[in-house]
Amino acid sequence: MRELVYYVAVSLDGYIAGPQGEYDGFLMEGDHMDAINERFADTIPTHIAAMLGLRQERTAFDTVLMGWNTYEIGKTQSPYNHLRQIVFSRAHTAEGENLEVTAKDPRAVVQRLKREDGGAIWLCGGGALAATLAEEIDRLVLKRQPLLFGDGIPLFGDRPYRPERFEPVDTTAYQSGVVVSELVRRREG
Ligand SMILES: NC(=O)c1ccc[n+]([C@@H]2O[C@H](COP(=O)([O-])OP(=O)(O)OC[C@H]3O[C@@H](n4cnc5c(N)ncnc54)[C@H](OP(=O)(O)O)[C@@H]3O)[C@@H](O)[C@H]2O)c1
Repeated sequence: MRELVYYVAVSLDGYIAGPQGEYDGFLMEGDHMDAINERFADTIPTHIAAMLGLRQERTAFDTVLMGWNTYEIGKTQSPYNHLRQIVFSRAHTAEGENLEVTAKDPRAVVQRLKREDGGAIWLCGGGALAATLAEEIDRLVLKRQPLLFGDGIPLFGDRPYRPERFEPVDTTAYQSGVVVSELVRRREG
């Protein structure tokens, strides 16, 4: 079955962006970048991949899910043109290459996608959409950045207390200070 993978950069104190969406504290250079660009080339915005001469062939993901706030930041460049892009919004609409904006329940959309053939589904963010989809996440790939934000947009928005167990499958610490942790949902039985 297709996996839903929340692949995201996060500060040590659990924020995916500052209170106003700031992300300039995140390290964009260093040895972690080569590894990320190679395995997760699909997650690089189309215009940047073109500048870097990277091939994007849906090797990691074939679909990306975004909340409207996340989509809005990169929308002038329609961020991930080579993927099937699904954006959740009850208030907005947009058109673009491989782009669908929907007001449908994200959990129902994900459950339908999982029944279809295809590759892994990337939950890009942000925190509000991740909170809605927490129970559907099969794998976490967290790029832990060596910094504290103090305030900002939490990894899972304002999700209420509700424990979900994950097991670590891989951790790589880079010289840059970024630690990439990969965990899979713990299945009982
Ligand atoms: N660090 C990283 O790797 C990373 C990755 C992705 C995003 N981010 C950051 O995260 C921030 C955005 O996160 P966010 O939590 O503010 O917002 P978000 O999750 O990106 O978007 C929230 C919006 O999505 C729509 N939405 C959410 N749940 C929905 C539902 N159940 N049904 C229909 N629509 C739904 C609503 O849009 P409408 O109001 O239009 O209905 C809602 O206002 C940005 O600053 C971005 O840069 C960081």
